[in-house]
Amino acid sequence: MLDTLTFGFLGGGNMASALIGGLIARGVPAGSIRVVDPFPEAQQRLARDLGVHAAGAPDAAFGASDVLVLAVKPQQFREAAAQLLPHLPAGDGNLVISVAAGIRLQDMQRWLGGRNRVVRAMPNTPALAGMGMTGLAAPAGLSDKDRDIASAVAQAVGKCVWVENDAQIDAVTAISGSGPAYVFYFIEAMQRAATELGLSADQGRELAVETFRGAATLAGQSAEPVSTLRERVTSKGGTTYAALTAMDAGGIADAFVRAMHAAAARGKEMGAEFGKD
Ligand SMILES: NC(=O)c1ccc[n+]([C@@H]2O[C@H](COP(=O)([O-])OP(=O)(O)OC[C@H]3O[C@@H](n4cnc5c(N)ncnc54)[C@H](OP(=O)(O)O)[C@@H]3O)[C@@H](O)[C@H]2O)c1
Repeated sequence: MLDTLTFGFLGGGNMASALIGGLIARGVPAGSIRVVDPFPEAQQRLARDLGVHAAGAPDAAFGASDVLVLAVKPQQFREAAAQLLPHLPAGDGNLVISVAAGIRLQDMQRWLGGRNRVVRAMPNTPALAGMGMTGLAAPAGLSDKDRDIASAVAQAVGKCVWVENDAQIDAVTAISGSGPAYVFYFIEAMQRAATELGLSADQGRELAVETFRGAATLAGQSAEPVSTLRERVTSKGGTTYAALTAMDAGGIADAFVRAMHAAAARGKEMGAEFGKD
């Protein structure tokens, strides 16, 4: 469905490059993709590596793309939207998807002249490896066709889930948006334990990374509750039991849940900060 559409990416950094690579791999012709990035080095890299049309500022052709993806840093968003606005077709001529963390739908709509065809996407860094998890939210009334387009764009770099409203994106941010850092944090801790237990750092890294990959794959393939999978490998009095008892004694699960509440609260605060006049 995407290969007949034209795309305009505002911002040509990591996330834009990952999405463009994913779209091209799914059959979107590079010639249907325009990128705007103020830096000549970024423009040269995008044109050379991905074969897309790259420019330093939006123009009418860019603004008329069927799908516009806003992929600038949140603090650059408002200014980038102001630069784009004069080049947008009147009314709701095209679909605008933002991947900027913390920018609320209502602010995005306001800064883009009151548009209704907007989607807020919250991807995560595994998108750079084609294994992203993206949360999507849209104003009530967005058409099924636009929802399908936004899903297909997110699926070019992994999987996606729709949430009911903009506020729930703060929860998505707390779980999967910031989530890769939690996994890295636990991998680091496993690596540390490995070296304390006499293994090399490289061995510890491989053991930990493959354990996360394997357990996540198993959980993803299984229809059983994750707690059942955990209980199945936790025989009373055994090694896993000893480890999980130590974790419970340390309040790890509760602290981890609190950490995600803190992330969601910070996401909400950031939305209010970025959206303030
Ligand atoms: N990377 C991730 O995994 C990830 C995950 C979730 C959400 N996101 C969101 O995705 C967005 C992009 O992240 P990123 O990691 O791709 O950032 P990035 O690599 O810094 O890319 C942003 C690009 O936009 C350019 N830019 C700045 N102002 C612009 C303007 N007015 N018009 C056009 N381009 C402009 C930047 O140039 P300069 O560098 O010169 O300023 C930069 O090349 C962010 O809002 C972030 O919150 C990213």
